[in-house]
Amino acid sequence: MNKAPVIAIDGPSGSGKGTISSRVAESLGFSLLDSGALYRVLGIACDRDGIDLTDPQAVANLARGLDIQFGLSGEGSVWLDDEDVSLAIRTDLGSDMASKVGAIEAAREALFQRQLAFREAPGLVADGRDMGTTVFPDATLKIFLTASLEARAQRRYKQLIGKGIDAILPALLRDLKERDRRDSERTVSPLKPAEDAIVIDTTDLTIDQVVNQVLEHYPLA
Ligand code: C5P
Repeated sequence: MNKAPVIAIDGPSGSGKGTISSRVAESLGFSLLDSGALYRVLGIACDRDGIDLTDPQAVANLARGLDIQFGLSGEGSVWLDDEDVSLAIRTDLGSDMASKVGAIEAAREALFQRQLAFREAPGLVADGRDMGTTVFPDATLKIFLTASLEARAQRRYKQLIGKGIDAILPALLRDLKERDRRDSERTVSPLKPAEDAIVIDTTDLTIDQVVNQVLEHYPLA
């Protein structure tokens, strides 16, 4: 069995997982799994193919056959077949479809092996909702990031405005709340800290402070 170390970083949208995970991975020379991107790609693929989300097997079949590649044209890029979908998966539609397919058990099972395959020496930082609870329950270190709903919405707002994308704060708050509800209430792999996770509230912390806290908890760092 592959025992390369894993740092699992879970938490709700806007808790800073993506940024923190990539900084921690960079600092340790580890690979990075952005598991949310897998759900996002599956979501947009379902939308494009007109897959009926009430048919779990149809969604799972599509998930098994997806040709997803990471990083073909720079940091953080995501490809579906021969198309760069890095921007498409970050739209509101991508977020909404990801959380809908994420609630389908057969879809989660279909993406499970793909996620395990990211575990390789010298180590992996796995970013998601259920990295510490379901996908890598034997992770070396489990971190659960939280932040207030308002702080998370503000971060998303700044991110979108920074990219030149129009955004309305109250609408972002409403969408985040709805996604939190869907992610936490689903019966399969709901969003919750693993029992042995270290919970860090990032509301009033800078990115550097959070990265340092994570690294301080990593036994071999
Ligand atoms: O992390 P990100 O915001 O990109 O995730 C998008 C959606 O994908 C989440 O709202 C969640 O519903 C789903 N997801 C999941 N399990 C994961 C990662 C993401 O269900 N491990």
